[in-house]
Amino acid sequence: MVKLDLQFAAAFLADREWEYQQPFVTDIVSRLHKGEVPGANFLGWIHLPSETLKQGIELIEQAGARIRENSDAVVVIGIGGSYLGARAAFEWCKPEYYNQLPQDRRGGPEVYFAGNQLSPAAFQDLLQVLQGKRVSLNVISKSGTTTEPAVAFRLLRQWLTDKVGAVEADKRIYVTTDRQQGALKHLADAKGYPTFVIPDDVGGRYSVLTPVGLLPLAAAGVDIRKVLMGAATAEAEFATAQLKDNPALRYAVVRNVLHQKGKAVEILVTYEPALRSFAEWWKQLFGESEGKDQKGLYPASVANTTDLHSMGQFIQEGTRNLFETVVRVENQTAAVSLPSDPQLEDGLEYLAGKSLAWVNDQARLATQMAHRDGGVPNLTVTVPDKSEQSLGELFYFFELACATSSQLLGVNGFDQPGVEAYKTNMFALLGKPGVVAQSKGMKDTLH
Ligand code: PA5
Repeated sequence: MVKLDLQFAAAFLADREWEYQQPFVTDIVSRLHKGEVPGANFLGWIHLPSETLKQGIELIEQAGARIRENSDAVVVIGIGGSYLGARAAFEWCKPEYYNQLPQDRRGGPEVYFAGNQLSPAAFQDLLQVLQGKRVSLNVISKSGTTTEPAVAFRLLRQWLTDKVGAVEADKRIYVTTDRQQGALKHLADAKGYPTFVIPDDVGGRYSVLTPVGLLPLAAAGVDIRKVLMGAATAEAEFATAQLKDNPALRYAVVRNVLHQKGKAVEILVTYEPALRSFAEWWKQLFGESEGKDQKGLYPASVANTTDLHSMGQFIQEGTRNLFETVVRVENQTAAVSLPSDPQLEDGLEYLAGKSLAWVNDQARLATQMAHRDGGVPNLTVTVPDKSEQSLGELFYFFELACATSSQLLGVNGFDQPGVEAYKTNMFALLGKPGVVAQSKGMKDTLH
């Protein structure tokens, strides 16, 4: 189960603060369950794990198996909430160098992500690596019109059609989109592409446990049932409104209390490269949910111990407006121990026989104590292992914490009005029909 340890934050919190916060949290949990919060149309994530398991995931598993059987590579096309969760889960569940492993050791196709930027160089690099391979595409977009994935899909569909012909290309395209609306839905219906639904009441950043995350994972050979079972366990365990029994709610409270005490930035800290994209998913979840109405904690991340040699200086001694939340994986399966080698004269002989996991964990402990002493409260979120179940639990833990935290902050945690501002400007600059006049005005200003 996910645990929250506050030993390195205790000096910044008073015991009575729990008492003060409990009535607010009780009220929020009750309103979340009754659908009486701003953005109540997007609360489908609350019972999503148990309901999805009840409804069954066979169609997703079958599509995943089909992709595995007939593809050397799958390209997952999407951005934001239609991208980060799948990537976080893929990197959590699969080895660091998955794509470089021989096919029989991978147990699934190579997995690439596209449509999350507009770089022509990145697109060309992708085509190079896809050359000569049997490729399937999973295009994911709730609206079906988001520019980056739409551009990537247009390019990749053309490339695929040129390579294998229209009939074969049509068999290699899987669509994840809205139940009934949008350009992608219309195309999928017209072409007969296998189509998976993003539920109406689940927003992008809460959608990892829908086909948005589940189909790419199934295609990569991840046991998606276990991910959902982990999340369903969290759904049941974290249903209580009692702070003392619910680490997700305690986490929501602590980050808000620290925010009120002048902390403006929360840094998610990881000690496993496999959690890098998880941190990106977390940043979107909290950044898009809370950063509005001129409010919110700025969510940042560091990947240690790498970043201790760069950002470590700032965190230890820079502006004192930070706190850190460390995601710790307690038990490691990789058994690596340091050998004895007196010839090296590197001063490390005293570590001979020690496991690398232990050394890594001492680095974490040492850093948490140093940063705490430097005035940076340190929270620790621990999962027992890097299993699929733990991942599911952790997704749910942060989703619930984020929904609660947004309510404590007093914002609508389920909309993202600010994301539209750049899109309107970009459409105008690109000359999209209907915004031509605005585009001309903007161009005049720019030149
Ligand atoms: O959380 C969100 O709503 C966004 O990040 C969207 O997921 C992102 O903009 C992609 O949108 P769509 O799935 O409509 O392409």
